[in-house]
Amino acid sequence: MSRPRISRIAAGVLASAGALAVLTLGQAGGRTVWNGVYTAAQAERGAQTYASYCQGCHGAQLSGIGEAKPLSGAGFLSSWNGLSVADLFERMRTTMPQDAPKSLPREAYADILAYVLKFNGFPAGQSELPGRAESLADIRIDAFGGAALAPTAARAETPADPNGAPNPYVADPHFLKLPAGRTMGSTSAVGTDSHGHIWVADRCGANSCAKSALDPVMEFGADGRFIKAFGGGRFVFPHGLFVDAHDHIWVTDAQSVPGKGAQVFEFDASGKVLRTLGKAGVSKAGPDTFAEPNAVFVAPGGAIFVADGHTEGKDPARIVKFGPDGRFATQWGTRGPAPGQLEVPHALAMDSKGRLFVGDRWNNRISIFDANGKFLEAWSQFGRPSGVFIDRNDVIYVTDSESRTPVGYGHHPGWKRGIRVGSARTGQVAAFIPDTDPNPDAGATSGAEGIWVDPHGVIYGAQVEQKAVVRYTRAPGRSP
Ligand code: HEC
Repeated sequence: MSRPRISRIAAGVLASAGALAVLTLGQAGGRTVWNGVYTAAQAERGAQTYASYCQGCHGAQLSGIGEAKPLSGAGFLSSWNGLSVADLFERMRTTMPQDAPKSLPREAYADILAYVLKFNGFPAGQSELPGRAESLADIRIDAFGGAALAPTAARAETPADPNGAPNPYVADPHFLKLPAGRTMGSTSAVGTDSHGHIWVADRCGANSCAKSALDPVMEFGADGRFIKAFGGGRFVFPHGLFVDAHDHIWVTDAQSVPGKGAQVFEFDASGKVLRTLGKAGVSKAGPDTFAEPNAVFVAPGGAIFVADGHTEGKDPARIVKFGPDGRFATQWGTRGPAPGQLEVPHALAMDSKGRLFVGDRWNNRISIFDANGKFLEAWSQFGRPSGVFIDRNDVIYVTDSESRTPVGYGHHPGWKRGIRVGSARTGQVAAFIPDTDPNPDAGATSGAEGIWVDPHGVIYGAQVEQKAVVRYTRAPGRSP
């Protein structure tokens, strides 16, 4: 097979696909790929056409070869999520096969599309997918089973079964390879950069760096192989991690001992400290000091948000906002259970509208504010949040590492631990990856606390109890 060229028109086609998507999204009551929009016989024909005209570049498992992108899996689905089947049809028809665009009859493209839908786990139905974009424009590609991007969908505040959403993911707990002699410590801090590299801050092979000289901030290649580490001697309890638009690695230290801790670091990718917020070893809720900084988030405009206060029943429980220059701008948050109050603000994320989502852990809810601290609403349907991540399509991923039945720490009866995936626009939960701990009531934490999702929809969960970073990919062919 010859090495595929990169299509020059791809960017333009995608841009126009985006414009189309805005139009198709607004149509209320439209169908989605879950409604059985092709027939089994059509997908069968499509498989054969695919084998003749597409497989040489895109592979028998639709996983892509070289520059020919995958046509299945999390990356493919998340990049088409929210667009219409017409957009994908036109993309295929006008640019593929790459060496002979538009060379097949429209019906053949429709057949291939049916096969691609089937392969990705969307169900067959009674009528065939037609070969005309006009008739395909009202069918939305919805990777998360009906919820992720429906702007007018009703909010599911209290789902009938909070653990009932399907799990379309497969887990790989062994993806990251540490150098010989180094073991992963407890971690709640993971992120990926623009090169697909994975960054983890662990607690120095244990659950504290207080007395360790090990480097807790580790970089791994996109293949999971260890590249380098830094940060030795600077941390007590690495807790939150954020990778900003410049691939700077921000890490919070949520504990302190005399001389170190209670700080937020900004590193460049080489490990150079570019900035610190807070004062080393000074645990205090001030304008330039933190008590227990849990999480840091850098907004697209450069404003820096820090969530401060890790201990229930103890002040502070606040969000501190700094300007892009690192200067204190404002803070908000009083401790308590009332709407707008916080108790252990453990995680931070922002949606495309600039709303700040705070993992209000001890209150078993996400509390949502505008960027200046005005309280907007609270969501309980994602469980007891330890970590929150929102992707560019406003798909929200929330870890619950603490819900348990007994009265006391983590009390949240009826809720299982795990990762809930849904929409930051509608608040609906669409997927649930259950934690694998057989006896969660026995311990305070299990499963992922920290969470990051790469642009291909691959989830990384950082685990305190299991001392691991687990990688989750969407299983091809598995319905959510
Ligand atoms: C000669 C190799 C080649 C053949 C044959 C080929 N493709 Fe592609 N395809 C590519 C390359 C390279 C890309 C990535 C460059 C681009 O985006 O145009 C791509 C991208 C795509 C994309 C965009 C994926 C995305 O998520 O952005 C789709 C869809 C696609 N191909 C479908 C098909 C279909 C359907 C066929 C068969 C009718 C086919 N391709 C045949 C090389 C090929």
